Amino acid sequence: MIRTDISNVYPFVDKSKVDALASELKAAHELLEAGTGAGSDFLGWLRLPENYDKNEFARIKKAAAKIQSDSKALVVIGIGGSYLGARAAIEFLKSPNYNMLHKNTPDIYFAGNNISANAVEEIIEMIGDRDFSINVISKSGTTTEPAIAFRIFKALIEKKYGKAGAKGRIYATTDAAKGALKNLATVEGYETFVVPDNIGGRFSVLSAVGLLPMAAAGIDIDAVMAGAASAMKEFSAKNMDNPVWQYAAARNALYRAGKTTEILACYEPAFRFMAEWWKQLYGESEGKDAKGIFPASCDFTADLHSMGQYIQEGLRNLMETVVKIENPKGNVVIEATEENVDGLNFLAGRDMHFVNEQARRGVALAHVDGGVPNILVTMDKVDEKNYGELVYFFELACGISGYTLGVNPFNQPGVEAYKKNMFALLGKPGYEELGAELAKRL
Ligand code: PA5
Repeated sequence: MIRTDISNVYPFVDKSKVDALASELKAAHELLEAGTGAGSDFLGWLRLPENYDKNEFARIKKAAAKIQSDSKALVVIGIGGSYLGARAAIEFLKSPNYNMLHKNTPDIYFAGNNISANAVEEIIEMIGDRDFSINVISKSGTTTEPAIAFRIFKALIEKKYGKAGAKGRIYATTDAAKGALKNLATVEGYETFVVPDNIGGRFSVLSAVGLLPMAAAGIDIDAVMAGAASAMKEFSAKNMDNPVWQYAAARNALYRAGKTTEILACYEPAFRFMAEWWKQLYGESEGKDAKGIFPASCDFTADLHSMGQYIQEGLRNLMETVVKIENPKGNVVIEATEENVDGLNFLAGRDMHFVNEQARRGVALAHVDGGVPNILVTMDKVDEKNYGELVYFFELACGISGYTLGVNPFNQPGVEAYKKNMFALLGKPGYEELGAELAKRL
């Protein structure tokens, strides 16, 4: 089970001040559970670990088995909440090198998360003449990046298998009833999966959005949901012993004390995309109304050799949350050498996990001494169950934190501004006036 240790917060904010947040957290937690707060139309994630469509879940497993049997590659098309969760899960639970290491399951290529021709061309080259399938994911069905990518990969798959053959290889994850992708899927006869109406993109990883790519990659999605379900029970406690409350209290207390940037760090490189997923979850949920903690991330120990200087001595507006993995998957013992030219014989017989852990402990103290509070989030090991728990931990803490901050954590009005400008510059019908205005400014 996920645990937190916020003792390295108290040198910066007195424990009594952190504890004093309990009444605000209680109100926020109750507001979430009652479904009466801002954005309450988007609370489907709260009980999703138990309250999900079991028939669809069985279809996801069946579709994943079919993809595994008829495809050497799966192109997963989506962006933001329709992308980051699946990629994070596959990299964390399998490997960042999954495509090279897991030969019994299809290679997975993520497309539609940029507008780079180079990226698309590379994926097409990597697929080569191998059999492939597509999982196109878009709740709205109209997001530009995945829509462009889907045009390209739909043409490719139809060229290879014909329209009839292609339709059995395209899986659309989208709204249950409306939107361009849903309409197209109905017309073309694709198998569809649902992004529930009451779940926003960044909270959707435990729906078909994340589960189909995970299952195709050989991840045990029953265990993922079981982990999330046990977290749902465990973290429903309304007191300061609840690790979710401790995390939410610590980061809110620190924010009020001027620590406006939170760095999420982990000492396992496979965690990198988990941090990308977390950044979207917290950034899009809290960054509004001219408020919010800026979520950043670091890979340790690599980034200690790049960002370490700033963290130690730069602007003192930082807090650090470290995800510690108690029992990592692999371990390697360091052996003695006769010459000892690198002077490392004092580590002979030690394993790399031991060294990594001493690095973590030493860094935490150095950063605290340098003025950076440290929140520790510990998970037992990297497996499906612990992953499901961690996802639910961060989601619940995000909802509670957002309400404590006084924002609607479930909308994202700010992401429309760039889209309007882009459409205007591209000459999309309906955007003529804005296009002329922007042209003058450019
Ligand atoms: O969290 C969000 O709402 C966004 O990140 C969306 O997931 C992202 O913009 C993709 O949207 P859609 O699934 O509608 O294509």
